Amino acid sequence: MSDLHSLSPIGKPERTAESPKLQDVQVTVRLYGEQRSFSMQPHERLLYAAIEAGLDAPHSCLSGYCATCRAKLLEGRVHMEINDALTEEEVAQGYILTCQSTPLTERIIVDYDQ
Ligand code: FES
Repeated sequence: MSDLHSLSPIGKPERTAESPKLQDVQVTVRLYGEQRSFSMQPHERLLYAAIEAGLDAPHSCLSGYCATCRAKLLEGRVHMEINDALTEEEVAQGYILTCQSTPLTERIIVDYDQ
């Protein structure tokens, strides 16, 4: 089982030694040709934090299988809880499902336009 899918017995992502407990996470989102920055809590998922910050981030199933919320991770690392939509090649290229992604680093940059 890969680290991306490691879960605790109650289904929450486990923090590992290489992902120390984070405080606020600074996020920059590129969407529809514009760039916005906001902060979020490390337990939040990127899509929900972006919507709370006022962004019209694309989404549909919210369950990890449609890829409507796909974005390219340009900086930082995330834990992707479920991925039933992206190919291994897309993941290797840096694409994530933002509805399933929680931050593992204090700085995250994602681009919905790529
Ligand atoms: S909204 Fe469907 S995979 Fe994220």
